[in-house]
Amino acid sequence: MHTNRPVTRMYGAALGWLTGQRVFLMILLGAGLFCASALAAPPSGAKSSDASAAPAAHAQFVGSETCATCHEAVSKGFASNPHTKMAYLHGNPAGVSCENCHGPGSEHVAGGGDVTKIFNPAKASAKDVDAKCLGCHAGAHPDFMRSPHAKANVSCIGCHDIHGGKTETLLKAPQPTLCFQCHADQKSQFDMPFHHRVNEGLIKCSDCHDPHGTFQNNNLRNTADQNMICTKCHTDVRGPFVYEHAPVKAEGCMSCHTPHGSQNARLLNMPSINTLCNQCHSRVANGTVHGQGSGSDELEPCTTCHTYIHGSNINAAFLR
Ligand code: HEC
Ligand code: HEC
Ligand code: HEC
Ligand code: HEC
Ligand code: HEC
Ligand code: HEC
Ligand code: HEC
Ligand code: HEC
Ligand code: HEC
Ligand code: HEC
Repeated sequence: MHTNRPVTRMYGAALGWLTGQRVFLMILLGAGLFCASALAAPPSGAKSSDASAAPAAHAQFVGSETCATCHEAVSKGFASNPHTKMAYLHGNPAGVSCENCHGPGSEHVAGGGDVTKIFNPAKASAKDVDAKCLGCHAGAHPDFMRSPHAKANVSCIGCHDIHGGKTETLLKAPQPTLCFQCHADQKSQFDMPFHHRVNEGLIKCSDCHDPHGTFQNNNLRNTADQNMICTKCHTDVRGPFVYEHAPVKAEGCMSCHTPHGSQNARLLNMPSINTLCNQCHSRVANGTVHGQGSGSDELEPCTTCHTYIHGSNINAAFLR
């Protein structure tokens, strides 16, 4: 009656549906079913129980072909949606059907399109939308509900547009435009003279952040070795070194750099390298070794001599 092949990497609840608990879970969730026959024909076993207290308790599944009779444009457009196209590739011949997201539609149809009898995510609470989407996507995005986005009621459809998506991942707009719609402060940071070239398309916000949430602050992604995300690309500063510069590992890159954009070359926190160093080294340049008199910030930058500032395998003072 329906396929038992696993459809994708990411099914949590949906896998249950595929393995024969369809009716039970439908009642439990009051949600759609994931079933091969959903697109092909109205599914015979898809009646929901009268005992169910779910909102659409009496509604039944009618199949996507019925929806298409009134929602022609939306239905045609859906053929190229990853929810149909990619699901085919993953072995489900019907894809994801309308009612998987909109709930059983018989009463909506009987009412000639009664909008009170169908689940419209655009009118639902963020929590309800997230629950619906995570019913299938929780495997790939297990941390979403504790992310700053979810906590601020930015739901999946704050960023994704299922029917009108502008990118392969159905985003409302490509990055970084999407993110700047809400994060205007960050936009001005990437306009600074020195910046990671995000606006230019060289790297993306999502290279460093996972908008679906992580275990780090600021939605930061992690590298495999639990170091800061930065060393994934800047492998030369990763180490380990025989002589580590303590703050690189202890406080991290942000003790000297700013991640988005800066007025200062090399994305440094401070306009002068010497001021930066002397924050921690309390004006070391006062003796014969440095020969720089007062250690004034105007003098030769510390890094002229202390070249390997991120660490060295040769010299304990990071000299050449
Ligand atoms: C008999 C025609 C008809 C059929 C069949 C039909 N709809 Fe509708 N649907 C409508 C009409 C009419 C509206 C209201 C349109 C409007 O206000 O622009 C509507 C609105 C909707 C809305 C928006 C509700 C809202 O809150 O504004 C959704 C979602 C929807 N339909 C989904 C479906 C799905 C899914 C199916 C198949 C299960 C389906 N429809 C089948 C006629 C139909
Ligand atoms: C993966 C989930 C998902 C599937 C599958 C899905 N929809 Fe939707 N649909 C949504 C979301 C989310 C919205 C709200 C869009 C928004 O943000 O405005 C929506 C909105 C709608 C609307 C009302 C808004 C509009 O565009 O007029 C209609 C009608 C609709 N869907 C019909 C359908 C039909 C017909 C199908 C099957 C061909 C379908 N949907 C499949 C998620 C889905
Ligand atoms: C019934 C299960 C189901 C539901 C509910 C569902 N999806 Fe999906 N989604 C899929 C499948 C299947 C694919 C195809 C991709 C795959 O197989 O990996 C997909 C693909 C996607 C993709 C594109 C993935 C890519 O790699 O290009 C996005 C984005 C997405 N879904 C977001 C949503 C959002 C947002 C919602 C809620 C409005 C939602 N989905 C609801 C099953 C579902
Ligand atoms: C703050 C914006 C934002 C929110 C909220 C959001 N997403 Fe995404 N999502 C993105 C971006 C950006 C990408 C593309 C990532 C990339 O290209 O590296 C993406 C990609 C995806 C993908 C495909 C690739 C992948 O990582 O699996 C799926 C599926 C997806 N999102 C589902 C969801 C679901 C489900 C929700 C709600 C639980 C959600 N998203 C909430 C921004 C968001
Ligand atoms: C619909 C509006 C919206 C969109 C679009 C959006 N965000 Fe957010 N974002 C928020 C809100 C609201 C918060 C939580 C409040 C805050 O910290 O500003 C947040 C929080 C964050 C945080 C955590 C900030 C912290 O202090 O912990 C990061 C990082 C972030 N967003 C990155 C992104 C990225 C990257 C994108 C694009 C892929 C994006 N956001 C798209 C609204 C949005
Ligand atoms: C090179 C990696 C990187 C890129 C690319 C990046 N971020 Fe960040 N972002 C960070 C780091 C690291 C922090 C934490 C800063 C801190 O701890 O002081 C951060 C912090 C944030 C915050 C929290 C508030 C703040 O400014 O400290 C937001 C919001 C944010 N980023 C949004 C974005 C958006 C939107 C984009 C894309 C336009 C983006 N980021 C691109 C690394 C990056
Ligand atoms: C996705 C890859 C990627 C990640 C992650 C990344 N960077 Fe970069 N970074 C680059 C690229 C590419 C450049 C060169 C940009 C250019 O040429 O405009 C760069 C440039 C820099 C520069 C300036 C180099 C110069 O010569 O002016 C600094 C400093 C820097 N990154 C620090 C960081 C820090 C700190 C982090 C972590 C918050 C980080 N990067 C994360 C790719 C990355
Ligand atoms: C103790 C301060 C400090 C810390 C911590 C630090 N850097 Fe730097 N970094 C510098 C200084 C100073 C320069 C500029 C060197 C110059 O101009 O000769 C620099 C330059 C860079 C550059 C430009 C290319 C290069 O190698 O000179 C990159 C990329 C970079 N740092 C990445 C990182 C990353 C990634 C981290 C975290 C793993 C990090 N830095 C931690 C001080 C620091
Ligand atoms: C965030 C604080 C911090 C900043 C900024 C910083 N350092 Fe350090 N540095 C340290 C610490 C802590 C040590 C380890 C001190 C120790 O082991 O006694 C260290 C060690 C060193 C050493 C080796 C000292 C030794 O006795 O072997 C040199 C050389 C050095 N730093 C130079 C610099 C230079 C040059 C800069 C500026 C580019 C700089 N540091 C910026 C905290 C910092
Ligand atoms: C002209 C080259 C030169 C410049 C410029 C320079 N240093 Fe040094 N620094 C040295 C030498 C050489 C040593 C001694 C190395 C040794 O003993 O192995 C040293 C040692 C150090 C040490 C190790 C502890 C100590 O005091 O002996 C620290 C920390 C240090 N320098 C920080 C700085 C800072 C901060 C600046 C910039 C304000 C700076 N240096 C500028 C050449 C320089």
